[in-house]
Amino acid sequence: MINSFRQSLVSHFTLKNNIPEVSLFGKARIAEYALLKSIGIKPGDEVIISAFTCVSVVNPIVYLGAKPIYVDIDLQTFTMDIDLLKKKITDKTKVIIIQNTYGYPTPIWPLLESIKDKNIILIDDASHGFQDYSKIEAILNSPFYVFFSMHWMKNISAGAGGAVVCYNSSFASDLKILENKYNCQNLLGNIFLRLYMFIWKNLMRNWNYWFFFKAHSLFENNSFFSKYFPGEHIDEKTNIREIPDNYLKSMSPLQAKYGQYALSHLEETLEIRRAIVKRYDDIFIKLNLPILTRPADQTHYFLKYCFRVKNNDSFVKKAQLINLELNRWPYSPLTPVKNNYERWGFNQTENKNAVEACKTIINLPTNPDIGDSYFIKLEKFLSINKSDIIF
Ligand SMILES: Cc1ncc(COP(=O)(O)O)c(C=O)c1O
Repeated sequence: MINSFRQSLVSHFTLKNNIPEVSLFGKARIAEYALLKSIGIKPGDEVIISAFTCVSVVNPIVYLGAKPIYVDIDLQTFTMDIDLLKKKITDKTKVIIIQNTYGYPTPIWPLLESIKDKNIILIDDASHGFQDYSKIEAILNSPFYVFFSMHWMKNISAGAGGAVVCYNSSFASDLKILENKYNCQNLLGNIFLRLYMFIWKNLMRNWNYWFFFKAHSLFENNSFFSKYFPGEHIDEKTNIREIPDNYLKSMSPLQAKYGQYALSHLEETLEIRRAIVKRYDDIFIKLNLPILTRPADQTHYFLKYCFRVKNNDSFVKKAQLINLELNRWPYSPLTPVKNNYERWGFNQTENKNAVEACKTIINLPTNPDIGDSYFIKLEKFLSINKSDIIF
C-alpha cells in the first residue's frame, strides 16, 4: 500500500521534464525534520520561515540545533512578505521554507530571482495548498522540495501523515534511509486513526462542531492519548530542544490507504471547496464585506475562507453561543504555544503583522459537508456583527 501510494504521488507531482522522488512519514513535522536532517542542517545554520505558523513547523529546526529566522507576513495574503524575507538572508541561511497559508501560495518569482546564485535550498510547506510547480519547472535546475501535511483537515487527508516530494535532489536517497529507519504507528495508533476518520467523515457536522471541538481538545490534552498522537511537544518550562519520544514515525499502510483515497478525489474536493467559496463570496458581496484575496496567476486551494475582525476571541465566543462553526487559526504565531515565544527565538516587535493577524483572523470552513442552513445562519450572524469586521 505504501509503495502504491508513493507511486501515485510521484505521478501526481511529475512535471514535463522532472520525475520527483517521494518519501512518506507519520506527519508533516516529521517529514520536515527528516528533510532538514538529510540536507545536513546543523547547529548554527539559519532556516527562514513564516512568522505566521504553528510550533510544529518551528520544532524540527530547533531539534536540529538550527536557528529559525521569522519573516513577517502580508496582511492581505497571510504569506511571507518577500521584501522582508530578502533582508533576512545572511551567509548562514541554508534553507528558506515558504508556506502556503489557507491555500494562498507564497509569491515565489521575486524570491527565485534573488536567491539564484546563492547556495540556498528552497522548500515549499504545501500543507495548506500547492504552488503551480509546472510554472516553477523552468528554473528547476537546482534542488527544490515540497513537504505537506495529510492531517484529516487538509486537502489530501490520510487522517495524519506527511510527505516530501524531492525535485532534482541529491538528498532523496538519504531521506529514504531515514524513512526506512523510522517505525510506523502501532496497532493502537491505527485504531485511534480509524476512530478519528470515522468521526470526521460520518459524525462531525457544522451543527455539532463545538461538541467535537471540545471533545478533541480534551483528547489532545490527555497524557494517555497524547502518547499515541504526540501533539506539539510544548514544553515551555523545560528543554524543548529534545525530540520527544514517539516522534519519528514513517507512514503506516492504513494512513497510505486513506491518503490514496483522498488523492484520487482531490479534484472533486477542490471543486466542492470552490463552490463553497462562491457561496461565501455571494454573502460577503451582499453584505458589502471584503471578499477573500486570490492570487492573480496561481491556484488558491481554499483550505479556509478568511477575514479579519477587531477581536477574534470575542467574535468566536459569540459564534459559539449560537452554535455557529467559526475558527481562529492560528491564534498565536506559534500555535498552540501562547507564551514564552522567545524560547523559539520569536520576536513579537519584529513580526507585528503576524501577531496582529493572530488576534484578528477568522477562518470559515470549506469542508465538503457544509449544509445550506450553515450559510443562512452565517449570513445572519455576519450582518448582526458587521461592525466587528475589519475592512
Ligand atoms: C502550515 C503547516 N505546516 C505544517 C504543519 C504540520 O502538519 P502535521 O500536523 O502533519 O505535522 C501544519 C499543521 O497543521 C501546518 O498548518
